[in-house]
Amino acid sequence: MSQNKDYKRILVTSALPYANGPIHIGHMAGVYIPSDTYVRYQRLRHRDVIHICGSDEHGVAITMRARKEGTTPKAIIDKYHELNKKAFEDFGISFDIYSRTSNDMHTITASEIFKKLYDEHKFIEKTSKQYFDEEAKQFLADRYITGTCPHCGNPNAYGDQCEKCGTSLDPTDLIEPKSAISGSKPVLKETKHWYMPLDQYQQFLEKWILEDHKNWKTNVYGQCKSWLDQGLQPRAVSRDLDWGIPLPIEEGEGKVLYVWFDAPIGYISFTKELTPDWEKYWKSEDTKLVHFIGKDNIVFHCIVFPSILKAEGTYILPDNVPGNEFLNLENDKISTSRNWAVWLHEYNQDFPGKQDVLRYVLTANAPETKDNDFTWKDFQQRNNSELVAVLGNFVNRSLVLTAKYFDNIVPQPGELTEADKNALAQIATIKADTENSIEAYRFREALNNAMGLGRLGNKYITEQEPWKVAKTDMERVKTILYVNLQITTAIATILEPFLPHSCEKLKGFLNIENLCEWDEVGTKELIAPGHKLNKSALLFEPITDEVVQGQIDKLNATKVANQKANFKAVPAKENISFDEFMKADIRTATILSAEKVAKTTKLLKLTVDTGIDQRTVVSGIAEHYDPAKIVGTKILMIANLEPRKIKGIESKGMILCAVGADGSYHFCSPDADIENGCEVK
Ligand code: MF3
Ligand code: ZN
Repeated sequence: MSQNKDYKRILVTSALPYANGPIHIGHMAGVYIPSDTYVRYQRLRHRDVIHICGSDEHGVAITMRARKEGTTPKAIIDKYHELNKKAFEDFGISFDIYSRTSNDMHTITASEIFKKLYDEHKFIEKTSKQYFDEEAKQFLADRYITGTCPHCGNPNAYGDQCEKCGTSLDPTDLIEPKSAISGSKPVLKETKHWYMPLDQYQQFLEKWILEDHKNWKTNVYGQCKSWLDQGLQPRAVSRDLDWGIPLPIEEGEGKVLYVWFDAPIGYISFTKELTPDWEKYWKSEDTKLVHFIGKDNIVFHCIVFPSILKAEGTYILPDNVPGNEFLNLENDKISTSRNWAVWLHEYNQDFPGKQDVLRYVLTANAPETKDNDFTWKDFQQRNNSELVAVLGNFVNRSLVLTAKYFDNIVPQPGELTEADKNALAQIATIKADTENSIEAYRFREALNNAMGLGRLGNKYITEQEPWKVAKTDMERVKTILYVNLQITTAIATILEPFLPHSCEKLKGFLNIENLCEWDEVGTKELIAPGHKLNKSALLFEPITDEVVQGQIDKLNATKVANQKANFKAVPAKENISFDEFMKADIRTATILSAEKVAKTTKLLKLTVDTGIDQRTVVSGIAEHYDPAKIVGTKILMIANLEPRKIKGIESKGMILCAVGADGSYHFCSPDADIENGCEVK
C-alpha cells in the first residue's frame, strides 16, 4: 500500500487562500501551522521537500469582495496578496514559494491542461438552464446565489456549497434561490458549459481512496466515502463570469474557467515558477504529494482535482490529504464578514516576537479530529503554565546554573547514576514518538510528545536539585548539569518544527547553531564537555491579564459594532386608540437612591420621587448603570403600572428606557429640569 512506499522526495502544498481578506487563526490552525511544522521537520531530516502556496485570486469570492469594498477585483487581489504574503513571512511560515494565480505562468498552465482535456474529449458539453439576474444582467454562479440547503435546511447556503453541512451544491439545488447581487429572484436562462464527468471516475476513485488509502484521516476518508456512496455527478468546470482565466477555446468566448478548476493547478504552476526541475516533483512516482487543507476543501482535493489529474494522465496523485476541521473563536464561528477573527497580521503587530506562542497554542489545540475553540484565556494559560513554567523554566535553570557554576562551559560528567542514564535514554524514545506522530499527521500528539523533553528536564532537575548539591558536591553538580544540557540541546532540535523562533534563540544560547542534527538526537552526546555557551536570556515570558483583556475588549467591540451594523427596527405594534394611550400615566420623576438587589445581576432597587409620592421601583438596569452614578437623575416613568413583587420587593411603576442595538439601556429624560410629577402627553 502506498503509505509504506519509499519516497525520494516530498511535495507539500497548502490550500491557496482566497486573496479576498486577511488570514486568520482558523486558517493557521487548520492548514498553515501543520504544514509548516511538517515541512520544517522534513527539512531537518534532510529530505528533498518543497512547500508550495500562494493566493487564490479568481472566482466569485474576489468579485464579491470588490463589490462590497466598492473597488475592482484587481485592487482587491493586489491588496490582500501583499498583506497575506507579508503576514505569513512575519509569522515565520517558511513556504518555498508564495505566488499568485493571476500570474501568466498560471494562466498558461491552467489553459494548457484545460485545452488538453478538451482536445481529448475528456469533458462533456451541456447546454442547460442556469440562474440569471435580470437586474444585474449576469449569470449567477456559485456564491452569487444563495438559498436554502436541500440537505440541512440552512437558509444561507451558497450556490456551490452549504457551509453548514459541508455539502457541495449546484445552484439549481437551492430552495428559494436569491441573487446575492441584487437580492432579486433569478430567472432561468440557457447557457453552454463544459463538465468534468466525475461519474466516469467513480470506480477509479473508489479503489484509490476507499481501498488504497484507508490510512487517510477519518474525517477526510469519511467525507470521501459519503460522496462516493451518493454517486458522483458531472461538474461544470466553466463559468459565465468576467473575472477568471478565459476559456482557451473558441466556443468559450466570454466564459472563464471555474475557480476550482484553475486554483489547484496553481500548485503546479507555482512549482514551475520555483524550479525548472518541477517535473521531478509532479511527474515521478517517487514523489510523495501531500495536500494540507481545511475540511471545506476535501471534495475538491480528494475527488475533483485527482480526477482532473487522472484524466490529464501525466501527473501524480496525493499520497495524503490531511484535512482539518474548523477552529471557533470564543465560542463563535470565525467569520471574515463579521470581523469575528484574530487576524494574523494584527497578531504579528500586537505580539511581536511571540509567533511561537500562537504556533504552540494552535497546535496544542488543533482542530484535528473535531471543531475546537480558541479563547484568549486558554492562550494565556498555555503560555504561562506550559511554555513559561515547564519548558522555559527548565531551559533557563540549566543555562543559568551552567553560567553560575562553570563559567558557561559544558562540564565534564562523572559516573552516571541510574537516574542520569534513565533521563538520557528517554531522549531517544521521545524523539521516536515525535517522529511517528508527525509522519502520521498527528501534530497535537507530536507536540505533546516533543514537550515530553521539557517535562523530562523539569522533573530531572527538580529531583536532582543541583543548587542544593552545589553546597557539598561540585563534582556531582557537573554531572547533573551535563545531563541537563544534553536534554536542552535535544529540545533545541526536536521542538524546532513547532517552535522555530525559540529554538533558533536557544541554539544561539547553546552556541551550537547547526551543530546538532536531528538524526543524531538520542544516538550520541549532543553537546560536548568543554564547549562554551553564550549568554542566555528568557525564552518565554508570562502573558499578563491586561494584555489578554485588551484582546477580549477588542472582540467585544466587534460584537457591539456588528449588532449596531445589523440593527433593524422591529415592525410597529398593532395600533391603539388615543384613549388607550391616555390610560398610561407617564410622569417625570427623580431617582433618590439606588442599590443592587442582592443575589441578582440585573436588578436595581430604586427610590424615586414622583411628585405624587416617594416609592420603590425595581428596574432591570443593573448591568447598564452604576447605582452610585444615577442618584439625582430625572427620568420618565409609568406611574400607574399595577404593583408587582420582584424578588420579594414591591415595585410600583416602571422606568422608561430606550434599548440600543447593542442591548444597552438609556433613560428617557425631559430636556429641561422640570418638576417631578409632570404628565407626559
Ligand atoms: N481558496 C480556497 C479556499 O480558501 C482554497 C483553494 S485550494 C486550491 O477555500 F487547491 F484550490 F488551490
Ligand atoms: Zn446544508
